[in-house]
Amino acid sequence: MPADAYKVPIGPLGYSRRSIVIVNDPEWVRSIMTDAIEIFPKNDLMKGALHPLVGDSLFVSDGETWKRQRRMVEPAFSFIRITKAFAAMQNAVGDHIGMLDQRADSGEPFSLDFSMSHLTADIICRTVFSSSIASGTALDVFESFAVFERNVSNVKLSHLIFGKAWSKVPQSKIVLDACIRIREQLGKLIDDCLASQDNSNDPDGSDNLARTVMDARDGDDGRPFTRDELIDQLGVFFLAGHETTASVLTWAFFIISERPEIAERIRAEIQTEVGNQHIAFEDIRKLAYTRNVFREALRLYPPLTFIPRVAAETTTLGGHKIKKGAMVMIAPWAIHRHQLYWDHPDAFDPDRFSPQREKDLVRGAYLPFGQGPRVCAGATFAMIESTLILAELVRRFDFHAEAAEKVVPVARLTTRPREEIMVRVTAYSKP
Ligand code: HEM
Repeated sequence: MPADAYKVPIGPLGYSRRSIVIVNDPEWVRSIMTDAIEIFPKNDLMKGALHPLVGDSLFVSDGETWKRQRRMVEPAFSFIRITKAFAAMQNAVGDHIGMLDQRADSGEPFSLDFSMSHLTADIICRTVFSSSIASGTALDVFESFAVFERNVSNVKLSHLIFGKAWSKVPQSKIVLDACIRIREQLGKLIDDCLASQDNSNDPDGSDNLARTVMDARDGDDGRPFTRDELIDQLGVFFLAGHETTASVLTWAFFIISERPEIAERIRAEIQTEVGNQHIAFEDIRKLAYTRNVFREALRLYPPLTFIPRVAAETTTLGGHKIKKGAMVMIAPWAIHRHQLYWDHPDAFDPDRFSPQREKDLVRGAYLPFGQGPRVCAGATFAMIESTLILAELVRRFDFHAEAAEKVVPVARLTTRPREEIMVRVTAYSKP
């Protein structure tokens, strides 16, 4: 990002046939994401890139289609549903701890990025489909997603620079093949869920997020989602729900590996609030410092580096003309590190979210989950799962990153290290 991106309220981003504008000012960002969502719908390039995977589903749809989908999907993220999903999160974390115990014994380095993606994908598989990632179908989805993630953002730079707004961006065969495989496997998981729904001998198999979405009915005509629409919507849960959380947790554990005093404070908090037991759902809200470590990691490394929109018509924003077809980039990455809105923007300081200091934060300058009607549907889910993961892993292990000085962030589908971060773990023993 050009240095100015961290200083200006609004400005051009690079030079291209199509105007690209970065908007940082929290008031103007609020207006784009809340008041003027018809003028600034979801960005056409992003829709095009995700269409082969998730069709015109919740994350990318607009207008009436989006409203219907959001109403039908929302109950899957109700507080009560997440409370029920918590046991599945604990089981996935328990299995992951088993794997890390083996890694601690062997002393072998492993990829932190991969390990976090595996864990968060397992949580999505268990909470959405009641199926652990160890099952063949879920593992296939995970592996094909990794191929999709690695290749989808390789959109040719020339297309970005010379392409017109709303022109079609060709995707590579490797991406399209991965999408076909993912959709086939998601279809199988959905069929299994539908079968267990019909099977009265399996009362537990039906208690998952997929079932809630299958049971949803359109408020106007009473129709459920078709099988294809279910693949679209549940594909979004997978897409939006595991790479995002994995990305920020990778950064959080990397930072903790460099700052042992943060791990010590997390451990002290767990000892005071929970003692030696497993962390229960009721404990999560007591782990304020652990949660603030996660929030601060989300500030400095927001998984969605950019939240892109397109101007559907020529308009003005704070006196600046925005041409029809302009790409309007809301960049949590730049807003969260902006010199006008943050004290010591580049410092990792979880206590800025403490009750004493939170009142000093600039309103609207923190938006890792977006805002307005399109705000992340899974934000509470992500906060709870991540607090649990941080607490349960940090209380048991020390993380040691290799070649930490070479770690560089890049914007892909999510904010990722350019090269995998290799770590070793050792069992933590109280001094
Ligand atoms: C730390 C983790 C996460 C981050 C940072 C994050 C971030 C975001 C952001 C910024 C948006 C808004 C995008 C826009 O306005 O264009 C969004 C939307 C969405 N997210 Fe998340 N997300 C996270 C986790 C999750 C999880 C765990 C799920 C589901 C299991 C999820 C499901 C969704 C869905 C369905 C939408 C679309 C909402 C709509 O357009 O109505 N997200 N997310």
